[in-house]
Amino acid sequence: MKFLPALTLSIALCCPALRAQEAAKARYLDPAVSVDERVEDLLPRLTLEEKLGLIHADSKFSTAGVPRLGIPKMWMSDGPHGVREEISLNSWRPAGRTDDFVTWMPASILLASTWNPELGMAYGGVIADEARMRNKHIMLGPGVNIQRTPLNGRTFEYLGEDPWLASRMAIGTIRGMQAGDVAACVKHFAVNNQEVERGRVNVEVDERTLREIYLPAFEAAVREAGVLSFMGAYNKFRGQHCCHNDYLLNKVLKDEWGFRGLVMSDWGGTHTTDEAVRAGLDLEMGSRGAYDDYKLARSFREGIERGEYPMALLDDKVRRCLRVLFAIKGVDGRPAGSQNTRAHQATARKVAEEGMVLLKNANALLPLDLTKIKRIAVIGDNAVRTQAHGGQSSEIKAFYEITPLAGLLAHVDGRADITHSLGVLAPKYRRLEALTYDVTGAAQTNEEPAPAPESTLNPAELADRAVAAAKEADVVIFVAGLNHERHNDTESSDRLSLELPYGQPELIARITAVNPRTVVVLVAGSPVAMDPWLEKVPAVLQAWYAGMEGGNVLASILFGDINPSGRLPCTFPRKLTDNPAHASGLARHYPGEAGTVHYDEGLLVGYRWNDAKNVEPLFPFGYGLSYTTFDYSGLKIAAGGDAGALATVELEVSNTGARAGAEVVQVYLEPVAPAVPRPVQELKGFAKVLLQPGEKRTVRIPLGARAFSYYSVERKAWVADAGEYRINVGHSSRELKVRGAFKLTTAVETR
Ligand code: BGC
Repeated sequence: MKFLPALTLSIALCCPALRAQEAAKARYLDPAVSVDERVEDLLPRLTLEEKLGLIHADSKFSTAGVPRLGIPKMWMSDGPHGVREEISLNSWRPAGRTDDFVTWMPASILLASTWNPELGMAYGGVIADEARMRNKHIMLGPGVNIQRTPLNGRTFEYLGEDPWLASRMAIGTIRGMQAGDVAACVKHFAVNNQEVERGRVNVEVDERTLREIYLPAFEAAVREAGVLSFMGAYNKFRGQHCCHNDYLLNKVLKDEWGFRGLVMSDWGGTHTTDEAVRAGLDLEMGSRGAYDDYKLARSFREGIERGEYPMALLDDKVRRCLRVLFAIKGVDGRPAGSQNTRAHQATARKVAEEGMVLLKNANALLPLDLTKIKRIAVIGDNAVRTQAHGGQSSEIKAFYEITPLAGLLAHVDGRADITHSLGVLAPKYRRLEALTYDVTGAAQTNEEPAPAPESTLNPAELADRAVAAAKEADVVIFVAGLNHERHNDTESSDRLSLELPYGQPELIARITAVNPRTVVVLVAGSPVAMDPWLEKVPAVLQAWYAGMEGGNVLASILFGDINPSGRLPCTFPRKLTDNPAHASGLARHYPGEAGTVHYDEGLLVGYRWNDAKNVEPLFPFGYGLSYTTFDYSGLKIAAGGDAGALATVELEVSNTGARAGAEVVQVYLEPVAPAVPRPVQELKGFAKVLLQPGEKRTVRIPLGARAFSYYSVERKAWVADAGEYRINVGHSSRELKVRGAFKLTTAVETR
């Protein structure tokens, strides 16, 4: 008798007419019923084993589902730059399929450089379409960890150093993804700011800094974007691993922010059954060994059977997992997906167009005028290196990838001669067939440089040839930077220094000595040092990792079809010790001493440090040039505004040059005589405006209560003290064009 309902139901599911009838009885199958009611209807129908099957992996990227009740397996995929290559069910070995060549979107740091949350929406929409095509329910992104150190190997996967910018860009991406019936998974919660010792290191950061710097993007993901899932971080926070961290997951995320979705572990980030059960984890992924040996499998079941764990603990996890599945219509059938469409490629291109950042353009060398150029020497390993399939979990098997050289060749199309010289020998490390993760979460990679054929190339000869080509050319385009190999921009290791590797600085110096008309393009996902070569180079473009259309976009910007409008989402320091995590040079601050890293710099992360300590950056946060110029005028600050704003900043921006271009108007708030120590100024609003030559537009930027607030640890609340605030508006954190003030007459407290 006990199994009868289940049996009739599974028969019913085979036949649409019966299924419809059954749906009338089984409320969980009825799409018209609310998600919560469907979950409550389904929960009592599940056996203990079935419940457990929903909260731990049954392959590298899935959970079991409940086939007899029509509950599908839930599939996940990395994230965040596209839908990752299919791997084998139970190992990291590529599955060798041919249907997983996909749209490769620009890296997250480039997306952040667009300062355009609407592009975040479009970006998320592409990911969702392609995820549905591949039957993925949860996409593992966006990554929103704040850039504390430029050496973090995963800087390229994140959204920069500022909580407001990162929040706005994350919200856009999550909304775009979830509007496409795919759950976003915001990661890695929290304070996962380095790859060195990532599985073991303990982070100590004061509460106020945690709230003001490291949590806002996560909080906005929950409260403003309604994100459906979270991934814990590998590291510890205040002594407890983040994938089962009572304070972060139970107290802050679930109790305070009211998060009702699921928290999954990072792959291999679950350590003990007791903590996994009690400290906020809902779904265990990527642990080692047999799936039944997972902490949320047999040992949890035994604990329940012994009466050690109440069933309510299990039911809460199951509810959360089911909520996500129902919310994205995972049980009802989602609209068909699509892959590699022209529209997806156009979005990849648009994002790249708005995210590359022009750092230097002396004597208006750029845009290049093809009518005056006969020979172009393209130099550099990054001119020809494909980047999509690197960096570890964020790797993408790209449908195609336009390298910088390919983009330049296509654009120039025979109108000038183009030569290419490698110039440097960038060692290529052997790609491991199968990456495995140990319990610390560190992937096992092979650090040995590959043997021949690379070894037949002679670095000195390569450099000489490049110099000779540069001498002959009318203009040199040196595509320099980093790549996704170990100790570059990659998961599992941090960079070892801020310098460009492989002798690139020396080669740039030699090249500019023979040809001063040299443009340096930086293909890199994190800031690099540019002293002393920057002085000698008239033009520098930060191209980041620009996705499958990157080479085409690069050519469009260099030759002026596109006017660059990206702005830096992070400070570029002159030298490593100008960064707060490295200023002291002490292991205590990076990468940690006796297993703990102390964020003693507190709130002074990124530009907040430069402002407080008077450290001149190489390029400041928010910086980026255009081929046109902008003027700011008529600043007014009025009380009140849309959506409960406390104040609204209004000003006029005009394009004073001869070309159309987009300006990013940035609003920094500076408390005058604050009652508690505060950063000199902080970004609290921005707007990107496209202006035709001569066009003038009014820009309005609202400032909510949070913009004025600091986090009061005593009051456990956000407090905006009454008093005077300077409002600095400008083109970057260091190029403030107009300044005003606003007096907040009454204090405001929010939670
Ligand atoms: C990474 C995650 C990723 C997961 C699955 C981990 O190593 O930290 O960001 O989503 O692997 O590939």
